[in-house]
Amino acid sequence: MGNDSANQMWGGRFSAGPDAIMEAINASISFDKRMAAQDIAGSRAHAAMLASTGILSDSDAEAIRKGLLTVLSEIEEGRFEFSAALEDIHMNVEARLKEIIGAPAGRLHTGRSRNDQVATDFKLWVRDQIDAAIDGLRALVAALIAQAEAGADWVMPGFTHLQTAQPVTWGHHMMAYVEMFGRDIGRFSDARARMNECPLGAAALAGTSFPIDRHMTAQALGFDRPAANSLDAVSDRDFALEFLAAASICAMHLSRFAEELVIWSSAQFRFVTLSDRFSTGSSIMPQKKNPDAAELIRAKIGRIFGANVALMTVMKGLPLAYSKDMQEDKEQVFDAADNLMLALAAMEGMVRDMTANRASLAAAAGSGFSTATDLADWLVRVLGIPFRDAHHVTGQLVAMAEGRGCDLPDLTLDDMQSVHSNITADVFTVLGVENSVASRTSYGGTAPEQVRAQVARWKEVLK
Ligand code: ARG
Repeated sequence: MGNDSANQMWGGRFSAGPDAIMEAINASISFDKRMAAQDIAGSRAHAAMLASTGILSDSDAEAIRKGLLTVLSEIEEGRFEFSAALEDIHMNVEARLKEIIGAPAGRLHTGRSRNDQVATDFKLWVRDQIDAAIDGLRALVAALIAQAEAGADWVMPGFTHLQTAQPVTWGHHMMAYVEMFGRDIGRFSDARARMNECPLGAAALAGTSFPIDRHMTAQALGFDRPAANSLDAVSDRDFALEFLAAASICAMHLSRFAEELVIWSSAQFRFVTLSDRFSTGSSIMPQKKNPDAAELIRAKIGRIFGANVALMTVMKGLPLAYSKDMQEDKEQVFDAADNLMLALAAMEGMVRDMTANRASLAAAAGSGFSTATDLADWLVRVLGIPFRDAHHVTGQLVAMAEGRGCDLPDLTLDDMQSVHSNITADVFTVLGVENSVASRTSYGGTAPEQVRAQVARWKEVLK
């Protein structure tokens, strides 16, 4: 036996304990205790498998099973004393198990290593977060669909370059985000399917000479199969990176929508009124109602994308198989996951509570010559002139209206005919925004009937 102050788990060949700084840089228990439930689930599956393959006696396995349940309840009830000297969650749990059940605890680590253990625990943790992200996204999508359904035919300006482009419908705009968040659900689901292979039993890196049954532990932990290469199994963090990549793209979508809500809730736009429940006031300006939740969601992409870059940078250039660098994976993922879930929940609440100001949307929809394209299309369709010429004629009419400080429908027929003599009064039917949006019936277009069709399709998808 080594020196008394050496690590009780691996201190056999050591004659001195670690320097305080060594302990500080080495210990991960301050954060990896979040994986306690996953660690104990992994150990329970491993112990049951060791008994079923005859590697462990049934009585030892039963003592381990009961002991692990006791440890779990101690942790859940906040009665567990975590120790930095025991480095991480794996050794904290095992050491406590030994205190509770004695000698059989020492047999639990047969045929495994902390390398496959941590990969398994972390995968289980990330898998739960993927499920939570999908739940959060589905709730957000449902809130967007409710908005879209209520305002399928409410007109508003559609923008390119944030300049008024063509009128669109409120429902169409909401459903654009449904498509984005729908793809995010797809990305998380794809990542989940790909990651669902169990590292447990890869042991330190090479596998083990014990006759373990990796299919059994994989199945017990809800994995589709055991990971097929032990070197890869302990050194793969693709699953965490895919989670962070999907989270980054999702946070980017949230950030774009948040930006729109910030703009739309301003006094200059008044497109939406955010509820008091998701706004804050100013301590000096009594009139203020600030869209803080939207602003914070807009900013979350920073730390989530930062986590993705950080872990990519940790992993690049690491030789096979496990290196301690990989302990730096967890805090990034924990922080990104916490903030993604918070942002999703806040966005869902804001969307559910917000009121679209139909009158402001309609007033803005008609301004900025938003039906100029409809006018050009009318010239092509009714007068048969080439689109390029129609574009030019319309441009002249826009300039005329701009010069007079009015909108296109305010021009007279005489005004119109002074630019192109064949124009008839029929042109005024296409200058109204309601007609404009109603005419855009191409698949995926902004016409209310198309919006309602997409709402119906998404309701089916979400069932
Ligand atoms: N705390 C470690 C981690 O998070 C567990 C694995 C340690 N393995 C080792 N060989 N030191 O990665």
